[in-house]
Amino acid sequence: MEIVEAIKQRKSIRAFKSDLVTKEILKEIMELALRAPSWANTQPWEFAIVTGKKLEEIRQAFVEKMEEDPNPDIPRPREFPEPYDTRRRVVGRKVLELKGISREDREKRKLWLLQGLRLFEAPCVIYIYTDRSFYLQGDRLNIWPIFDCGLIGENIMLLATNYGLGTITQIQAVGYPDVLRKVLGISDSKLIVLGIAIGYPDWDDPVNQLRSEREPLDNVSAWYGFD
Ligand SMILES: Cc1cc2nc3c(=O)[nH]c(=O)nc-3n(C[C@H](O)[C@H](O)[C@H](O)COP(=O)(O)O)c2cc1C
Repeated sequence: MEIVEAIKQRKSIRAFKSDLVTKEILKEIMELALRAPSWANTQPWEFAIVTGKKLEEIRQAFVEKMEEDPNPDIPRPREFPEPYDTRRRVVGRKVLELKGISREDREKRKLWLLQGLRLFEAPCVIYIYTDRSFYLQGDRLNIWPIFDCGLIGENIMLLATNYGLGTITQIQAVGYPDVLRKVLGISDSKLIVLGIAIGYPDWDDPVNQLRSEREPLDNVSAWYGFD
């Protein structure tokens, strides 16, 4: 598939079919994704690729923790200054609208949150983690390994479209890292950055109709020396 087509097609999928993704396809995606650039080729990423019983164990444990505040290794933003707050609210509202959930319906909103914790029933998830010692350097944070994890994450998502697969990067997937450490045996010396849920999209679910907006290029760019 052409890269332009893959970029156009990729979007976050929030309802998956139960069809499994083969290890063969996942290996093809991951092998190619490794071509991502990184700071001085440090390649500061490692992966746990999980399906089947292990994934079900994680889903169950996450749901049981639902009442606890999530505590991801890379903290969530404390605040969303404008214009970011408006943008995130718009997408959140559209998701709820497509699911037919009103803002006041706390019960249905809770069930939707639960769906997120269950990775929208995706049959597979790719956790990306990095070395804690590279990120935490005395009183300084070296954010570049996290940046590099983002680059390879996008590679994974674009490559997945080539196989008719859908993906969603989820902070929800890494909200209870103690569970992931226990079930997958990931060491404390690693920081679990994010999870990418992957599977075949359920196109019958209206939530997958969502096409998130983008700020027009003119609003976010300045051009110099072109006249
Ligand atoms: C770091 C990161 C974390 C995200 N976490 C979640 C999440 O926990 N739940 C969710 O529904 N979407 C999550 N998303 C998906 C974003 O909401 C989505 O990428 C954004 O709205 C743009 O839409 P698009 O991916 O369809 O283009 C996350 C995306 C990123 C990059």
